[in-house]
Amino acid sequence: MTRRAIVAANWKMNGDSALVNTMVSGLNNVELQDNVNVVICPSAPYLSALVVKAKEDKLNAAISIGAQNVSEHDNGAFTGEISTKMLQELSVEFVIIGHSERRCLYHETSTQAAHKVKAALNAGLTPILCIGESEAERATEQTETVLASQLQPVIDEVGIEKFIDVVIAYEPVWAIGTGKTASSEMAQETHQFIRQFLAKANENVAAKVPLLYGGSVNASNCEELFAQPDIDGGLIGGASLHVEQFKVICSAA
Ligand code: G3P
Repeated sequence: MTRRAIVAANWKMNGDSALVNTMVSGLNNVELQDNVNVVICPSAPYLSALVVKAKEDKLNAAISIGAQNVSEHDNGAFTGEISTKMLQELSVEFVIIGHSERRCLYHETSTQAAHKVKAALNAGLTPILCIGESEAERATEQTETVLASQLQPVIDEVGIEKFIDVVIAYEPVWAIGTGKTASSEMAQETHQFIRQFLAKANENVAAKVPLLYGGSVNASNCEELFAQPDIDGGLIGGASLHVEQFKVICSAA
């Protein structure tokens, strides 16, 4: 079975209008395998411009637009937040949820992430649910416990059957932005645990959920990582801001 593969770009709070134009123009001739989707997740102010530019340039249909966060609330007094309806109106299709920077810097909990996944699914958006352990948790062999504690609240909230429409990104926190990429062996072992954890609830769904690796992926290490049986692409930070490097990564999936 060929699982769907995804290479998602998380620009974080980087980029500008020029990068929107450069990225869309640059990706127009990217070579992708048939089962590969590419998702570009700029900061919210650039979502509309990216959607418009992608339509104007008739960008490859396998390339979608994603947001970096969404509110679990439909509307109301939540200053600074963005609703699923607003993303839908922008033709956004994916949304990153529970990124470690939102968990660490903005104290987002797995319960909140679960509510956001539910809201996204209810709105027809594809959640990219981020999970990952800290360096201390890895060093003290708590990785599997931590990942299970981040996954279970979401399974409890939406039900394992709904995971057929969820993408999971495993991002060891100690590899994010550090250049210290997890080895392909360690990444595969952890992805295999995640898939087995899901399979305990539903084997069929677990076999189909795309599991992305994130954390210092670049043009040099992507091929070996993506060759692993349980790694179905990547969630790319820094390298996704450079169109030529990002194209290499997309073509490696
Ligand atoms: O969401 C992707 C990001 O956390 C990974 O960042 O710069 O290590 O690729 P980077």
